[in-house]
Amino acid sequence: MGLPHEESSHMAKPQTRSDDLTLIRAERLSAGYGSNLAIRDIDLEIRRGEVVALFGPNGAGKTTTLLTLGGELRAATGRVVWNNSGKWEPLHRRARQGFAFVPEDGAVFGGLTAHQNLMVARRAERDSAMHVFPELRDLLHRRGGLLSGGEQRMLAVGRAIGGPTRLLVADELSLGLAPRTVGVILKAIRAAAERGLGALIVEQHVHRALGFVDRVYVMQRGRITLDMTAAEARKNIDEIQAQYLTAEAPAGITANGNNVEPTEGGGA
Ligand SMILES: Nc1ncnc2c1ncn2[C@@H]1O[C@H](COP(=O)(O)OP(=O)(O)OP(=O)(O)O)[C@@H](O)[C@H]1O
Ligand SMILES: [Mg+2]
Repeated sequence: MGLPHEESSHMAKPQTRSDDLTLIRAERLSAGYGSNLAIRDIDLEIRRGEVVALFGPNGAGKTTTLLTLGGELRAATGRVVWNNSGKWEPLHRRARQGFAFVPEDGAVFGGLTAHQNLMVARRAERDSAMHVFPELRDLLHRRGGLLSGGEQRMLAVGRAIGGPTRLLVADELSLGLAPRTVGVILKAIRAAAERGLGALIVEQHVHRALGFVDRVYVMQRGRITLDMTAAEARKNIDEIQAQYLTAEAPAGITANGNNVEPTEGGGA
């Protein structure tokens, strides 16, 4: 079958086809915490109008990748090109340029009502967030912290894609959510992509996500080991699950590149 063996599967080809459709690009990007690199030599690209999934076992470096793309972490080597610039900028600057980051916890402020949470967004974003998820209309006066996980996530994603967002980067999109809610959110992101949004989503429900995305990156131990279309991934789903998404080294890699031994467990 078509999947490369892991040893030879460093398929992160330098993506040189960038043009005006490219929203963000990582070039040989390495980053981490202190002297520990959690991601190494990442090449990836998100273009206007496409939804891309980032899969990988626990500890693979997915969150670290998103944080570095967003400017929350600085590159150790390599760079992130956003808005035609390879210069590092913090997330709040990127946000003003249309970069929406939805972290794992949904970034809903617990002390605020849903209405106040939406007020944090601009009026136009608020209206379109409720247009994206009509369910939000009924929740407007409840405290954000009293919203269910799914409602909070809808609020965060709705706020993000309701506005003038060009790129949505969302971590663990469906963590703890009912399948129906996951479907609603993925569908909304898909619809926004038809209007030109680019999206990079970390998603644990691989099967479900493959119905909504255009391309897939798989990470293992800090590296991208698969880079393929969703159609290819759907054809090889069982092998991808077995070979790429089941076990992972728990503690990442050290700066000198030594992998720690993988252990059982994890799994996306
Ligand atoms: N704040 C931190 N300080 C030190 N090391 C960290 C920190 N956050 C993550 N790491 C380490 O970096 C590596 C990659 O972690 P990361 O959170 O990016 O993985 P992930 O793919 O998002 O995993 P999960 O699926 O569990 O969310 C792991 O080895 C992790 O232990
Ligand atoms: Mg994570």
